Amino acid sequence: MPVLPELVRSAPKAELHVHIEGTLEPELAFALAARNAVDLGWSDAAALRQAYAFGDLQSFLDLYYACTRVLCTAADFRDLMLAYLARAAADGVVYAEIFFDPQVHAERGVALGTVLDGLCAGLELGRSVHGVEGTLILCFLRHLSEAEAFATLAEARPHLDRIAGFGLDSGERGNPPARFERVFAACRALGKPVVAHAGEEGPAEYVSDALDRLGALRIDHGVRAIDDPLLVQRLVRHGIPLTVCPLSNVRLQVTPELHRNPLQALLDAGVAVTLNSDDPAYFGGYLNANLEAVHQAFDWPLATWQQVLGNAFRASFRPAHWQQARLEHLARHFARA
Ligand code: HPA
Ligand code: ZN
Repeated sequence: MPVLPELVRSAPKAELHVHIEGTLEPELAFALAARNAVDLGWSDAAALRQAYAFGDLQSFLDLYYACTRVLCTAADFRDLMLAYLARAAADGVVYAEIFFDPQVHAERGVALGTVLDGLCAGLELGRSVHGVEGTLILCFLRHLSEAEAFATLAEARPHLDRIAGFGLDSGERGNPPARFERVFAACRALGKPVVAHAGEEGPAEYVSDALDRLGALRIDHGVRAIDDPLLVQRLVRHGIPLTVCPLSNVRLQVTPELHRNPLQALLDAGVAVTLNSDDPAYFGGYLNANLEAVHQAFDWPLATWQQVLGNAFRASFRPAHWQQARLEHLARHFARA
């Protein structure tokens, strides 16, 4: 199978599902461990990479949370963000909505203000150095309680100008969206858009619940929606986007074989599928590596690529006129074919 067409590789892109903590490459993890005198527990970057063999979402999350222990100061978060934006820019990303997990850092005594100072400094540098525009989505951890989510929301209130929206992540099994209904209502009452991870390992019902109970504007992953034809119809009818993460689904054994990933059937049904990298340092690559894998699995024509890449701009939090300008840019790019 030939490599990803250059026109797709170089196309302007939006990324809507990437966890900044999931962009922590082993080399940077060791540099930050040295800077902060943290013992990571692996001998070197190669040994850490060797540990990247995941049986399911939880086995990944255990390692992912362990590695966040090296993130201590605003400068650490700035460096992490800048490293991601450099990689994203190399893949044509011009706009990113980026998740962060403040509760993981609060457990280690790192305040939300410190995390935001660093991430926002990285975003500013990324904009000027790499030309990528980025915004932040604060994620609540669904394995923690509603009360802990409300405490985090209270801590976030002085910083709302630096938070574009709210999300829900972490271990899905046994942690249904319903528990966060009131938290998400409070987020929406602040005028913020909300999204939620659902239907990654959890059932289609969690996708419906994320829409009905949380008011999610889009669903992160959502591939298990394929099990409920009425839900698929609903996603199509209401134009509810899915932020699908192909390499993540492979590495976390959601669909070990990419050519069997429901993303193709969802797309064929008319769902607004977008492609994203999730935790690229852990899952084998950044956005273009995900597109490359999809190309190998499905061999789409250029028109499908233009549609799917366009879906990400349409699914963003940005206003209609901004989306239109990006879609016209994308159309001009593909007109070179
Ligand atoms: N699923 C849920 N939570 C996460 C993920 C994921 O793929 N990555 C980081 N946190
Ligand atoms: Zn995710």
